Amino acid sequence: MYFPILRMRRLRMKDNFRRMRRETRLSISDLIYPIFIQDGKKIKLEVPSMPGIYRFSTDTVLEEVERVAEMGIPAIILFGIPAEKDSMATQAWVEDGIIQRGVRVIKEKFPELIVITDVCLCEYTDHGHCGIVKDGKILNDETLEIIKKIALSQVEAGADMVAPSGMMDGAVAAIREILDEYGYGEIPIMGYSAKFASSFYGPFRDAAESAPAFGDRRTYQMDPANRLEALQEIELDIQEGADIVMVKPALPYLDIIREAKERINVPLAAYQVSGEYSMIRAAAKLGWLDEKKAIWEATLSIKRAGADLILTYFAPELAEMIKEGWNES
Ligand code: PBG
Repeated sequence: MYFPILRMRRLRMKDNFRRMRRETRLSISDLIYPIFIQDGKKIKLEVPSMPGIYRFSTDTVLEEVERVAEMGIPAIILFGIPAEKDSMATQAWVEDGIIQRGVRVIKEKFPELIVITDVCLCEYTDHGHCGIVKDGKILNDETLEIIKKIALSQVEAGADMVAPSGMMDGAVAAIREILDEYGYGEIPIMGYSAKFASSFYGPFRDAAESAPAFGDRRTYQMDPANRLEALQEIELDIQEGADIVMVKPALPYLDIIREAKERINVPLAAYQVSGEYSMIRAAAKLGWLDEKKAIWEATLSIKRAGADLILTYFAPELAEMIKEGWNES
């Protein structure tokens, strides 16, 4: 059947027809909100390259957490900026590390909220790499030993889920093993399974002071050109025991999200990263984009591509838009 018998515009003619025809909706339950915490008191420092995103101390962060918990956002993911860095990322796993303290204060006040912790070394190493460095190389298996300590210390502090983001081989299996050994068999793991070596992490590295001091991350993060390798990474993380897998960044990799969704049965997350956030903010500031419409369209496209969960700095704004009825307008 084709034109003029078939007319695609018929179901676009009225608001209610458009609602009835709509295939994808965003839900507050889809959203995971990243929050940065650092040492100190009464700190709320805006990240220059991420307007609207702040670094909080463990006292001020509670207000921000309350704001998102009240909106019904089910989960946050925490990133820490330690006061001191060294070659072994010690501050990532000590009992009184910034993340461990942050998790404790947040879980005490908001026991229902899912608090996810990022398991990585880069914010805690003086060289800024996601692993132990020797002779200019990032060592895999030595790094796994540190990754285990980080994950265990975060869970001991009360984290509900851990998310290894360093793209070390075997990280999910290593974390599963240590958590099970210490009696944390019920704690799930979200793997940053297909994480690409992306320029879109730039603003995050400003926020977390985690830019590598030498070289780049291409010996561990993925080549943006690769699709089959991404699917292999995702399958491997599932075999190692990941409960949720992730594609990151999101918007430049919608094809990977779609293809992963068609192949796997575990929940799929996508990370709308800092650069995706800042691009929209910057263009809106210049008056070049309608900010809210661009936020909605970009995030909706990630869901449409197949993401079940979306990590996004826009989470509070999206939650408000969802409540305002954007899904039905
Ligand atoms: C690494 C990590 C990064 C992000 C999340 N976890 C940065 C990197 O790989 O350099 C990026 C998130 C973003 O850009 O929003 N621990």
